[in-house]
Amino acid sequence: RHGSSIPPRTESFTKVTKDHVAHLRSLLSSETSLLSTLDGSATTDELVSYNDDWMNKYHGKSQVVVRPKTTEEVSKVMKYCYDEGIAVVPQGGNTGLVGGGVPVHDEVIIQLGNLNKIRSFDPVSGVLVADAGVVLEVADNYLAEQGFIFPLDLGAKGSCQIGGNVATNAGGLRLLRYGSLHGTVLGLEVVLPDGTVYNHLSKLRKDNTGFDLKQLFIGSEGSLGIITAISILCPRRPKAMNVAVFSVPSYEAVQKVFAEAKDHLGEILSAFEFWDKQAYSVVRKHQEELGGERKVFETEGDFYCLIETGGSNAEHDEEKLGGLLEHLITSEIVLDGVLAQDTTQFSSLWSLREGIPEACGKAGPVYKYDLSIPVGEMYEVVETMRTRLRDRGLLVGDGNPNGPIRAMVGYGHMGDGNVHINIVANKYTEEIENAIEPYVYEVVAAKSGSISAEHGLGVMKAPHIHYSQSDVGIGLMHQIKKLFDPKGLLNPYKYIV
Ligand code: FAD
Ligand code: MLT
Ligand code: ZN
Repeated sequence: RHGSSIPPRTESFTKVTKDHVAHLRSLLSSETSLLSTLDGSATTDELVSYNDDWMNKYHGKSQVVVRPKTTEEVSKVMKYCYDEGIAVVPQGGNTGLVGGGVPVHDEVIIQLGNLNKIRSFDPVSGVLVADAGVVLEVADNYLAEQGFIFPLDLGAKGSCQIGGNVATNAGGLRLLRYGSLHGTVLGLEVVLPDGTVYNHLSKLRKDNTGFDLKQLFIGSEGSLGIITAISILCPRRPKAMNVAVFSVPSYEAVQKVFAEAKDHLGEILSAFEFWDKQAYSVVRKHQEELGGERKVFETEGDFYCLIETGGSNAEHDEEKLGGLLEHLITSEIVLDGVLAQDTTQFSSLWSLREGIPEACGKAGPVYKYDLSIPVGEMYEVVETMRTRLRDRGLLVGDGNPNGPIRAMVGYGHMGDGNVHINIVANKYTEEIENAIEPYVYEVVAAKSGSISAEHGLGVMKAPHIHYSQSDVGIGLMHQIKKLFDPKGLLNPYKYIV
């Protein structure tokens, strides 16, 4: 970490010894469920993928990774750590973008990958009950076979876990259509810090008996308990899916396309994403390096937007989308447009958007900002930040491969009022971080936006929560944390500090 320094280790937390490791091992049914450098069952290198985050920005120093196979094992491990005063960090697929899923110091990592069973699926109600460690794409493929769809989709679907998705309240690419996990998750099974199992795998849509406790865990980023299973309402998979991508001359045009898309497509609109020409350039360069396809648009633009439709009647949907396309082209709102003709083209058009985070990651170390701002003012923040970095001489033009900043891109979930800014550096430096933070948060707060739309707080934004929450709100959060985790052993140094 640079700039804002790493919080110091809490000295009252117990340092894990060889004896602790031996005891933890005795709680698990399988030899392979525990990896530790303390008893020689793993080397430091073998623990790197658990200690380092997806961006390679945050680096923990844990010597112990526990991979329980059942909820009962999670419970025993948690109880033991709680009694012994050992701090722990829950980890799913380790695709989080705020340093929440890796240790800050030497916390024991509890990785959920071995809890990976689908428990039940009801094809009448669409309710899926599954272990937290099921990979999102595996869950969605399972549902596809039954004609259903997981109500969440995101670029990390091949690695992230459904428990991690609920823990972060991930938003992603389908929120516009299916809403947030706060609406679709019906129940949870959670192991509390002291090992108590809160079993509330409800399949009910309506239940007004007392506080809706599951909501506290959705988006709690592993600060209140370890989610071991989820129950979620899954919609029917649309029988017909279409995607179109447009190049447009300005951000105003993106907004016009969005308004027209809602008007023409109504309930079949399933995603509306946008990105700027700088993001397009980074993603195309990366795809070309991988041997990717020829030019996509005859006329390129300053902005791009992607529209996805999903409905039950292919002919009807195509007619609606065709009508929209014709209108956008004849009224000269868009410069150019491509409509997917087959499933390969469907994926390759989506990859122009979904591939942006990976392409940025390949281009260099990335500073990521994930902001909620009213749609009309959303792109102003990207421009304000560009001006600031240019004024400081850190960004030259749109970026320079050898300069401090190689690229700076804006993209996001237009339909949800969520913009992502990725600043690709040559290396992570205090100078760059201090030029961006906390200024970017001040700009967002001045627009009454949120400094974390969907990625969460983790270790990155924990010290900045006050830009989006009141003192009263933060005070209540501290009280809730204390109620669940009086010793502060679960995922320390993060979320609310
Ligand atoms: P991890 O990264 O392992 O953990 C994330 C947090 O949840 C940590 O605080 C961890 O302690 C906690 N946690 C994990 N599992 C559990 C559990 N079972 N119980 C309790 N706590 C737990 N996010 C979006 O919202 N929208 C996107 O479109 C999106 N796209 C992405 C695209 C890419 C390429 C990448 C790399 C990330 C993207 N993300 C997106 C970030 C997103 O938060 C994660 O991908 C995902 O939701 C995290 O799941 P995970 O299993 O990897 O969790
Ligand atoms: C996305 O929308 O692509 C994700 O939130 C990931 C990211 O911004 O890096
Ligand atoms: Zn996103």
